[in-house]
Amino acid sequence: MALVIGIISQKGGVGKSTLSRLLAVEYARNEYNVKIADMDLSQGTVSEWNRVRMSRDFTPLISVEQFNSVSEAMKQGKNYDLIVFDGAPHATRMTLDIAQRSDFIIMPTGVTLDDLRPTIRLAHELVSKGISAQKIGIILSRVGASQNEINGAKRYITEGGYFVLGVIPEKTSIGQSHDIGKAANETAFKTINDNVDELIQAIVNRISEING
Ligand SMILES: Nc1ncnc2c1ncn2[C@@H]1O[C@H](COP(=O)(O)OP(=O)(O)OP(=O)(O)O)[C@@H](O)[C@H]1O
Ligand SMILES: [Mg+2]
Repeated sequence: MALVIGIISQKGGVGKSTLSRLLAVEYARNEYNVKIADMDLSQGTVSEWNRVRMSRDFTPLISVEQFNSVSEAMKQGKNYDLIVFDGAPHATRMTLDIAQRSDFIIMPTGVTLDDLRPTIRLAHELVSKGISAQKIGIILSRVGASQNEINGAKRYITEGGYFVLGVIPEKTSIGQSHDIGKAANETAFKTINDNVDELIQAIVNRISEING
C-alpha cells in the first residue's frame, strides 16, 4: 500500500501545490512510483503543471490525476508507492478526509499572525477529530528575509504543540520554475535548489521517523 502524504491549509495560495510538486519529484527521483491526487478541481494547478512538464519531457515522470473524493483516489493506492494529496485552496469537508487517510500531513503557512492563527486552529481542529498531532508538520512558506519574523513564527507553532519542518523562501525563480513544468528544487539556481533540498530531506526524515 502506498505511503500517503496530505498537503492542506486553511488559507489559499500558501504553497500546497508547490510542496506537492516538490515531494513528488523528490520521491520519484528515489525510484518511488508517485501519484499526485489533485483535489483542487477548480484550478487544477498541478494537473496543468504536469501537462507542461510532460510536453517538455522533464524527468522524473510524475503522474497527476484529479479526483473528487479521497476514497476514489485511494483506489489507486495499490498501484503507487506514494500518493500526495494536493488539497483544495481552502479547508473543506474533504480536508478531514485527507487528514484521516494520510500517514503524514503537511500544512504550509505564512509567517504573520494572520496566517499562523488559522493554521494552528485547523491543526487543533484535526486533533480534536482524532488526528495525532505527531502526524502534522508545518512549513513556513514564501518567507521573507527577516530571521526575527521566522523565529517568532517557529515559536508560535511550537508553543501550539506542532512540529516545524522548515522554511521555503519567496523566490521569483521558484514561481518561474513552476511556469515551465519544474519543481521548486529544479530552479535555475543551485543555491535555491540546495536550500529546498535541505527542507525536503527534513520532511523525508520526519516522515520516516513518524511512520517507522
Ligand atoms: N517560495 C515561493 N517563491 C515564489 N513563488 C512561489 C513560492 N511558492 C509558491 N509560489 C507561487 O505562489 C503561487 C501560489 O503557490 P501554490 O500554488 O503552491 O499555493 P497553493 O496553496 O497550492 O494555492 P491554492 O490555495 O490556490 O491551491 C503560485 O503561483 C506559485 O508558483
Ligand atoms: Mg494549489
